[in-house]
Amino acid sequence: MLSLDGTWRFAWSPTAHTGKDPSDPGDTWDEIPVPAHWQLCGYGAPAYTNVRYPFPIDPPRVPEANPTGEYRRIVRRPPGWDTGRVLLRFDGVDSWFEVWVNGSPAGRSSGSRLTVEFDVTGLLTGGDDVLAVRVHQWSFASYVEGQDQWWLSGIFRSVALLHRPEHGIQDVRIVADYDHRTGDGLLRVEALSTRPVTVEVPERGVRGPAGETIHLTSVEPWSAEAPRLYRVLIVGEAETISADVGFRTVSVEDGRLLLNGAPLVFRGVNRHDIEARSGRAVTRETMERDVVLMKRHNVNAVRTSHYPPDPCFLELCDRYGLYVVEECDIETHGFSLVDWRGNPSDDPAWGAVYLDRMRRMVERDKNATSVVMWSLGNEAGWGRNLAANARWTKERDPSRPVHYEQDTECEEAGVYSRMYPTFDELEAIGRHEEPESADPARDARRRALPMIMCEYGHAMGNGPGGLADYEAIVDAHPRLAGGFVWEWIDHGLEGEGPDGRRTYLYGGDFGEPVHDGSYVIDGLVFPDRTPSPALAEFAAVIAPVRMRVDGGDLEVENRWSFTTTGDVVFSWSLESDGETVGSGPLDVPVVGPLSHARFTLPPAVRAAEPSAPSGGDLWFTVTATTGSASPGVEAGHVLARAQQRRRATTPRRASARTSVPTSVPTSARTSAREQETVFVRRFDDSGHPEALGPFPIAHVGLDVWRAPTENDRFAGNGETSSLESRWREAGFDRLVERAIDVHVSDASARRTARYGSAGLDTGFDVDYLWTARGDGLRLEVTIERRGEWRLPLPRLGIVLALRAADPGSAVLEWLGLGPGESYPDSRSANWYGRHRMTVREAQVPYVVPQENGNRSEVRRLSLTVPEGCLRIESPHEFDAAVRPWSTERLERARHSAELDEEGLLWIHLAAGVTGLGSATCGPGVRRRAQYRAGRARLVLDFVREGI
Ligand code: GAL
Repeated sequence: MLSLDGTWRFAWSPTAHTGKDPSDPGDTWDEIPVPAHWQLCGYGAPAYTNVRYPFPIDPPRVPEANPTGEYRRIVRRPPGWDTGRVLLRFDGVDSWFEVWVNGSPAGRSSGSRLTVEFDVTGLLTGGDDVLAVRVHQWSFASYVEGQDQWWLSGIFRSVALLHRPEHGIQDVRIVADYDHRTGDGLLRVEALSTRPVTVEVPERGVRGPAGETIHLTSVEPWSAEAPRLYRVLIVGEAETISADVGFRTVSVEDGRLLLNGAPLVFRGVNRHDIEARSGRAVTRETMERDVVLMKRHNVNAVRTSHYPPDPCFLELCDRYGLYVVEECDIETHGFSLVDWRGNPSDDPAWGAVYLDRMRRMVERDKNATSVVMWSLGNEAGWGRNLAANARWTKERDPSRPVHYEQDTECEEAGVYSRMYPTFDELEAIGRHEEPESADPARDARRRALPMIMCEYGHAMGNGPGGLADYEAIVDAHPRLAGGFVWEWIDHGLEGEGPDGRRTYLYGGDFGEPVHDGSYVIDGLVFPDRTPSPALAEFAAVIAPVRMRVDGGDLEVENRWSFTTTGDVVFSWSLESDGETVGSGPLDVPVVGPLSHARFTLPPAVRAAEPSAPSGGDLWFTVTATTGSASPGVEAGHVLARAQQRRRATTPRRASARTSVPTSVPTSARTSAREQETVFVRRFDDSGHPEALGPFPIAHVGLDVWRAPTENDRFAGNGETSSLESRWREAGFDRLVERAIDVHVSDASARRTARYGSAGLDTGFDVDYLWTARGDGLRLEVTIERRGEWRLPLPRLGIVLALRAADPGSAVLEWLGLGPGESYPDSRSANWYGRHRMTVREAQVPYVVPQENGNRSEVRRLSLTVPEGCLRIESPHEFDAAVRPWSTERLERARHSAELDEEGLLWIHLAAGVTGLGSATCGPGVRRRAQYRAGRARLVLDFVREGI
């Protein structure tokens, strides 16, 4: 093989008529790297649309303004290639292209994410040959490539020349089944060759002719848990092909999806090929990084949304162990906006185009062990061409079920698939009680099929909330074979934001007249592939081992289908207010796959408790880690944690029940000299102190609003309005304060105030009472709602703005859930303990700035700056977020780089906050994760600490 990746000559034209001659070597033209998208190399601009086509729907015609790239490269046939055939292979060209060698046509093709090979044997001279490729951005193919992603063009995957020897092997099909009853592997290789071909498995010392089934006894099967591959040699007269093959069998039995006879439950993600600088041109290193990150976060499956990935990706999935639902490059979603009129999926004129795409995917990847299911495409409606593709696929490859979500009646699909079901819908499907479809026979067939969520848990911005709820439903119903979170990675493109700073860009940032904004920023990892809190949440929710401490017992649930807990290392620790007071290894008997067991904790653990220091909460933690390394995952990797509070000094949550003193001494103001001696220098006329510890106070106020998350901005499934719009209607975004009464004395100050919004008679009454207490100050705040709302509150608490020269570098330490952010419906990844980081590190850099960084179940937090340290603690648990910018600034910024620190530390302390939901696509925040209190009380002690 001769790679043709590298620098090519390039000329760009805004229309299809470039005026260039295919025999022109382009010696004086620009240079461009291959693979790459021209829009990311300075020619034209990227554009983002979700459903809509960015051109008039008039198939198969496309706009006259059809940007076109002319590529040139001098190629020289390597010595020794003068017999046999030479093929020119393109792995991905977007969207339609023609090829010439020395001005003679070599072929034309489309199918942007599909491989194509041209026979150029007779066109190469052996000397310097001019290879010309003309690529058009728009073509008839664009109508069937309407996926939700950036429109990016050019030769974006590798190009190579391949030498095929005479009497070589033109194609192989490898079937490697595993019989879980006997433990045997059944290997059959079909080889296309004019000469006999034999098949060998050297490590087992077996060989046999191609076309016959070779039995191997006691093979180690392949699974995502143990991706065992065997080297298979396919030996022909002129060449030997070597393939790494895993033995595995996918089946549907009794309405369950099985792999090697055991339940196959996808704990998966949807993945696009995308990279912030290079678009869909992704390197092997990037793909490997994805795979390793997935393995480290317990992900076991990938849907290659919505097209065949770069071929390297599947090889990595085979090797590291990921189940793949491979999807064909077909989507016509834009037709849904015109009631599917003219949808190519049901138009016979498009039949050959459809079949060509399916055939090319299946033929390219039929030997990939990791591919366990074929998907016909995404959101292309339903019609005869898709049905024909399904039938062809089942015939060509009966070993894998066919998936397609919009075959809603499962006419052809082998699994029932849904996207973004509500929790109730999923439960109903789990119980085989989904609504009936019109045709009873079809209804009965579908009802007996396993179900997958090809998309769920829309990970846009801060969210999704509710992953643990989905997982609980999947766990409870054998029919449910799991699903794939939408989606793996944010598609932000790195570039200059509106203010000239480097940032991640999304729809509209390139001046597109039609676009869908940030809807393409909806991944579990940020554009630079750092994990977002949602990935940590997902990892915890889908952990293969689950534990629960129940009194003196430990329950262990092994959720692997094939692996025992034999290699898991368990340990325990006991912490008193975040200080470790005991720890050690935990000897846990081995639990078999898909089993539960309950053990009594050993005496050493039980003995640690009575000897722990008195006072403070006592937390017992069990941690399960990997005992040895496996592909992508190091030994010592944390699989799961379980905690139990053994002794509580803190009520679980701030309550409104404690009574508030009703009168405050009203003695004269403290003298300036006296003020020096107390923690606060003095209360000012507003009834608040002027400083807290080392921090002068700039603002104290009620805190109800949050910078809306993107999920807040959408109405969830079955809802008519978004949380944001309901919150704005209730005036939470514009509350103004009016003091009702202020009393200031030397040792205390009280302020009562009413908060209301323009045009409304509802709001909040708030009572702030500050009292000197020991070496600090206590603030008691009582908040009462005025008026009745039938809606949750973003949060309910107070906010303090404290002056600090460099707020982001203040060190934040807290006792509570951490280290990541947490919300009522997204908190599985966090554990109770003492956590520490700078304020800057505590911010989550969502591409579109929005509410983030909440920490829950906090009992104590401290902020340290060079001038000193302020400790805030409460007899109750509270929610806290500390930011180097205001909510207003967070809300106003449209790109992460626009957030500037401005000399203030904003401390948000709340009695409760509302969860996240996934209303951008899916259900909103569930009732139990909504904060709906009508009255709240916070008791907060502020203490200056020496540093
Ligand atoms: C689905 C679609 C995905 C993506 C998602 C929303 O309907 O299949 O491609 O658009 O919605 O982000």
